[in-house]
Amino acid sequence: MVLQGKMAIITGAGGDLGRGMSLRLAEKGARVMVNDKNLDKALETVNLVVNQGGQAMAHNADVTKAEEVREMVDQVIREWGKVDILVNNAGDVRDALLIKMGDEDWDFVVDLSLKGSFVCARAVAPHMIEQGYGKIVNISSMAYRGNVGQTNYVSAKAGVVGLTHALGLELARYGINVNCIAPGLIETPKSRTLDEKTRERLIKMTPMRRMGEIIDIANAVLFLVSDVSKYITRQTIHVSGGMEGF
Ligand SMILES: NC(=O)c1ccc[n+]([C@@H]2O[C@H](COP(=O)([O-])OP(=O)(O)OC[C@H]3O[C@@H](n4cnc5c(N)ncnc54)[C@H](O)[C@@H]3O)[C@@H](O)[C@H]2O)c1
Repeated sequence: MVLQGKMAIITGAGGDLGRGMSLRLAEKGARVMVNDKNLDKALETVNLVVNQGGQAMAHNADVTKAEEVREMVDQVIREWGKVDILVNNAGDVRDALLIKMGDEDWDFVVDLSLKGSFVCARAVAPHMIEQGYGKIVNISSMAYRGNVGQTNYVSAKAGVVGLTHALGLELARYGINVNCIAPGLIETPKSRTLDEKTRERLIKMTPMRRMGEIIDIANAVLFLVSDVSKYITRQTIHVSGGMEGF
C-alpha cells in the first residue's frame, strides 16, 4: 500500500487510461478524485474503485475552465484535507491534414491537453507548495515527436513535455516532482476500432511487435507518483514498447 493516505486527482478518468490509473492508484491505497467532464463516465469509474474496496469521488469539472477546476480542488481539500497527486490525463484528438484543419480543431485539442494541464497544475500547486510535497504526472503521447494529420495534437503533446520541464524546474525546490508519460500504441476499446491494415502497420512500427496494455500506463503512473521515484523529476518516460515516433 505505497500510496496509503495519499489524495489523488486524475483528470479524464472516466476514459480508458484514466480509469485504469484510478483503479491502480486506489488499489495501492490512494483516495481518488475521478474527474471527467462526462459525469456518468466518472461515476462508473468511482463505482469500479469502490467495488474493489477503494475510496473515490467524482467531479465533472471541465479542465479548461479555471473556476470549475478550482471548485474541484476545493472539494478535495474540504473533504480529504490535502492533495498529493495530480495526473493530467484528459485529452482528445481532432485529426485533419494541415490545410483542412479548422481553427476550432486546433483550439479544442490544444486547450484540452495543454491549457487543461496548466490550469489543473496551477490549481493544486499552492496546496502542494504549502505541504512541501506533491507529484504531478502529465500524459503526453509518442505523437509529440510528429505525426501526419495531427499538427494540433502533436503541438499540444509536445507542449505537455515542455510544460513538464518548466513546472518541474519551478516546483522542484518545494518537494514537488513533475514528470511526463508518453504512451505509444495502447490497446483500448477505441484502438480496437482501428482497421486491420492500420493496426498491423502500427504494430510493425513497434519493436515489441504488440500494443501496450492500459495497465502498462497505470504502472508507469504508479511508479512516478510513489516515493520509489522521489529523485526523478522533469522526465518523459516513453511507455511504447520501444517505438520512438510515428
Ligand atoms: N489510448 C491511447 O492509445 C493513447 C496513446 C497516447 C496518448 N494517450 C493519451 O492518454 C490520455 C487518455 O487517453 P484515453 O485513450 O483514455 O482517452 P479517452 O477518450 O478514453 O478518455 C479521455 C476522457 O477525458 C474526458 N474529457 C474530455 N474533455 C474533458 C474536459 N474538458 N475536462 C475533463 N474531462 C474531459 C472525456 O470525457 C474522456 O472520458 C489522453 O491524454 C490521450 O491523448 C492515449
